[in-house]
Parts: sequence; structure tokens; C-alpha cells
Amino acid sequence: MIKIIQGDITTLAVDAIVNAANQVMLGGGGVDGAIHRAAGPELYEACLKVPEVRPGVRCPTGEARITPGFRLPAKFVIHTVGPVYRDGLHGEPEKLAACYRNSLALAAENGCKSIAFPCISTGVYGYPIEDAAKIAVREVEDYLTQSCREAEVAEEESGRARSPVSPERSEPRKRSLEVCAPQDRGAVAPRPPIEVIFCCFSERDASVYKRLLNMV
Ligand code: APR
Repeated sequence: MIKIIQGDITTLAVDAIVNAANQVMLGGGGVDGAIHRAAGPELYEACLKVPEVRPGVRCPTGEARITPGFRLPAKFVIHTVGPVYRDGLHGEPEKLAACYRNSLALAAENGCKSIAFPCISTGVYGYPIEDAAKIAVREVEDYLTQSCREAEVAEEESGRARSPVSPERSEPRKRSLEVCAPQDRGAVAPRPPIEVIFCCFSERDASVYKRLLNMV
């Protein structure tokens, strides 16, 4: 389930809001500043405790870290660091895609049923909104498609366990979902369903997402 809203992400009572942070992860301007102001000083303290992977870097570009939301209505803040846009030919698309994938994975690991994303990298970091939104929508749609396939496969597996195949049907029914989990399907624990909200600060950004998702 994908929603697009125009507004201030710090007001959303969702399980997780995503922060467009920087690698130091101690606050900044833009949505980072807004989230830290709304969350209160405890957020800064929590970020300070996130171990540095190298001097001055708590969250490398493309990765994600999670902290509580403290005074925010959101339970968690997932901090991710988008790429600084140069020309789109220096790995920026891949890094931006990784921000969405890693944030969704972290949300799932923490049992989140709803997550709100700002338009990562499209402010200070200069990523053109149209290009960034295409990547955001593609990554979220891929994630949701994969999640629902895993849920269907898990459902079928549990159904099979409850009523084993009768002897005359030794060959398990061919499933249309064969393509979705090539590895041992029994091993795939389904990810919890999650509602994804694209929270755009401007109407213009929201209209870009709506056009991409045919919601206009
Ligand atoms: N709610 C939702 N979206 C917001 C909010 C808010 N309260 N405030 C700003 N935004 C939007 C901006 O309009 C932009 O569309 O978030 C998007 C991302 O812009 P930035 O916050 O500038 O983030 P980014 O481009 O990823 O640059 C990150 O900026 O603030 C610093 O510390 C941050 O160094 C990091 C860099």
C-alpha cells in the first residue's frame, strides 16, 4: 500500500519516519534539522551512541540506522544518507536506491507496519526530483511486490503443512509463484506487510510522485 501526502514528516504518527541525514548523523538542516528539533535532544544523544564505522562516519551513504523517535509521534527514526548529486553517472542512482531498500529492510526487522519517506537527496544534495522519485517508487514497488509474493508462498507452505499432498498427487501443484522464491521457499520468512507513505514537503514534489503512480 503506497500513499502520497504533502506535509511535514515530523507530524506523522507512523511506526517509522525516514530522515535524510548525513554521514556524521548528528543533525543538520532540512528534514534532518526538522526531525531533530521535533524529536528533542534525546535523539542527538541516541545518534551520538551509534558507532562510527570510520572517523566522522556513523552511517555511510546508502546505508540506514534506526533510533527511537522520542518526542516525535513516530516510534522510530530511520536515518539514511542519500548521495550528493553530481551528474547521475557517479553511482548516485545506485546509492539512492540502496537508501530505500535498506530503510525498508530495517523497518521490517523492527516490525514496522508503516513508514514515511521524505524525498531523499532532493534538497541540499541536489538530486533532481523527477529522477529521484522514479528510483524511490521503483524500489518501494519492488519491495512490496516481493513481500506479497513471500506472504503468498508462506501461506501456501503452511496450507501444505496442514493438509499434506494426498498420495495420488505426489507431485505438488505447480505454483504460479515459482518465479518468486527460487531458493528453498520454506526458508523465506515473509516480511510483515507495510504501508509506505511518500511525504513530500511541496505540492510540486507530491505531483511528481502522483504522476509516477498514476494517482493524478
Ligand atoms: N517534512 C518533509 N520533508 C521535508 C521537511 C519536512 N519537515 N523539511 C524538508 N523536507 C524535504 C525537502 O523539501 C526535500 O524535498 O526533504 C527533502 C530532502 O531535502 P534535505 O532535507 O535537504 O535532504 P537532502 O537533500 O537529502 O540533503 C541532506 O541536508 O539537512 C542536511 O543534514 C542533512 O547533510 C544532510 C543534507
